[in-house]
Amino acid sequence: MSNETRSYPRRETTDAGEIEFRLMSQADEAAVLDFAQKLPTHDLLFLPRNISQPKVLSAWIKEIERGAIKSLLAVKDGKVVGCGTLVRDPLSWSPHVGEIRMVISQDVRGQGVGRALSQETFALALGAGLEKLSVQMTVDQQAAIALFESLGFKAEALLRDHVRDVDGKKHDIVVLGHNVAQVQAQMEAYGLPGAVQH
Ligand SMILES: CC(C)(COP(=O)(O)OP(=O)(O)OC[C@H]1O[C@@H](n2cnc3c(N)ncnc32)[C@H](O)[C@@H]1OP(=O)(O)O)[C@@H](O)C(=O)NCCC(=O)NCCS
Repeated sequence: MSNETRSYPRRETTDAGEIEFRLMSQADEAAVLDFAQKLPTHDLLFLPRNISQPKVLSAWIKEIERGAIKSLLAVKDGKVVGCGTLVRDPLSWSPHVGEIRMVISQDVRGQGVGRALSQETFALALGAGLEKLSVQMTVDQQAAIALFESLGFKAEALLRDHVRDVDGKKHDIVVLGHNVAQVQAQMEAYGLPGAVQH
C-alpha cells in the first residue's frame, strides 16, 4: 500500500470552477466557522458534535494540531466551500480504521466538488496506510450515500433514532464501510495492482 504523502495545495477544475484543496489549519478557524454556520443544521447531524458552535470548532482545530485529525478544505475564490475530514485513533482497537466526514456548501452542490473532495480524502486515508474506512450519515442523505457507494462503500449498520435534531426529531444513521485492504488484494489477484491507489 502506498504510504507516500500527497502534497497540498492542489487545484482541480470542477463544474463549479477551479477549486483549491488544502489542509486546514488554525488560520482557517473563522472561515470554517462561517462555512459551517451557513449549512442547514440537518446536514450536520452526521457529525458527533455541532461544528457551527465556536467551542466545537476550536476543539476540532486542537485535534488537527495534535495530529489526531486531518481536514482538507475545498476553497473557491478564497472562500471555503467544502470540508473533508479523516479521523483515526491509533491508540484504539481500531488503529487500522479511519472515518471520513464530509460536507459541501449548498451553493456548489451537484457540481463535482464533493466527488473531488471525497477522492482527495480517500487518497489521504490510503496514504496513511488505513485498511478500512467508514462514513456515516442520516438515511435521507441520498447524495452522500450514492457518492460513497460509487467509491465502493457498502452499508454495514443502521442505527435507529440515533441523532436528535434541534426540533427534537430523531433520525436514523446509516454506517457505510469500505474494506480498502481487501479490495486492493482482490485487484492484485486480478492483476490490477494499484487500482485503488491515487
Ligand atoms: C454528500 C455531499 C458532500 C455531496 O457533495 P456534492 O458536491 O454535491 O457532490 P457531487 O456534485 O460531487 O456529486 C457526487 C455524487 O453524489 C451523488 N449526488 C449528488 N447530488 C445528488 C442528488 N441530488 N441526489 C442523488 N445523488 C446525488 C451522485 O452520485 C454524484 O455523482 P455523479 O456526479 O457522478 O452523478 C453533499 O451533498 C453534502 O454536503 N451533504 C450533506 C452532508 C452529509 O450528509 N455528508 C455525508 C457525511 S460523510
